[in-house]
Amino acid sequence: MASPLTSTDAPPLSLSGDYLDRLMRRESFSALWPLFAKATKPAKEMTESFSALVHLRSLMKRVDACRVLHVGDGAHARSAALFSLKTAAHNISIDPLINEPLVSAWRDEFNIQRFEWRKGRLEDHAAELNELPELPVFVTFVHAHVHVDLELSRLRWDAAYTLACCYPTRQLTQQFTPYRSGTDLNVLSVGRDFQLLINPQSARARLLMGVR
Ligand SMILES: C[S@@+](CC[C@H](N)C(=O)[O-])C[C@H]1O[C@@H](n2cnc3c(N)ncnc32)[C@H](O)[C@@H]1O
Repeated sequence: MASPLTSTDAPPLSLSGDYLDRLMRRESFSALWPLFAKATKPAKEMTESFSALVHLRSLMKRVDACRVLHVGDGAHARSAALFSLKTAAHNISIDPLINEPLVSAWRDEFNIQRFEWRKGRLEDHAAELNELPELPVFVTFVHAHVHVDLELSRLRWDAAYTLACCYPTRQLTQQFTPYRSGTDLNVLSVGRDFQLLINPQSARARLLMGVR
C-alpha cells in the first residue's frame, strides 16, 4: 500500500511560503543571503532555486557522489551556491554572465566547497564537462533562457530539473516524458511550471526511478 503523504511533501493548494521558511530557518541562510540580496526579488529567486533542490534531491538520494550542472545560473550562480551548501554534490554553474570576482569572493569568504563555474554558454563548455570523471550527472535549468532539449543533447546526463518562465515551449521538454511535472506553488514567481526528467538512455534510469 502506498504510504500517505506527509505534511512536507503534500502539494500546497495555494501559493505557499514553505520554501522560504525552510531556507530562512537554517544557519546556511546567512551564507546564501549575500548572493540573493543582490536580486530585485530575492524571495522569487530563492524559491525558484529551492524548487530545483527539493525535486532533484529526491533522485540524488538514490546515488552516492554526484555532479550537478546548473545551466543558465545567472551572474551570481545562486542555484550552484544553494546546492553547495545543502548537498554533498559537486556543483558547476554555467552562464555567460557569471560575475567571477563576486562568486569567487563569496566562495572564499564562506569557505564554500564543491562550487565551481564556467563562464560562457553551455555549448562552449559541454565537451570539457562531458570529459570530467564519471559520476551521476544532474542538471538544473532554473528559468534558464535556453532550449532544454537542445542543451541536454550536448551533455552526458542522468536526470534534470527545469523551471519555465518566458519560453515554456523551449524550457519544457518536447522530447522526453517527464518523470514528474507540475506547478510548484511554493515558487513565488509567475513561472512555476516544472519538469523532472530522467534520461531514458542513462544506465542509472531504473535506479533513479526507484525500480529494482
Ligand atoms: C532569466 S536568467 C536566469 C538566471 C538564474 N537562473 C536565476 O533564476 O536567477 C536566464 C539566464 O540564462 C543564461 N543563458 C542563456 N543562454 C545560455 C546558454 N546557452 N548557456 C548558459 N546560459 C545561458 C543567461 O545568460 C541568463 O543568465
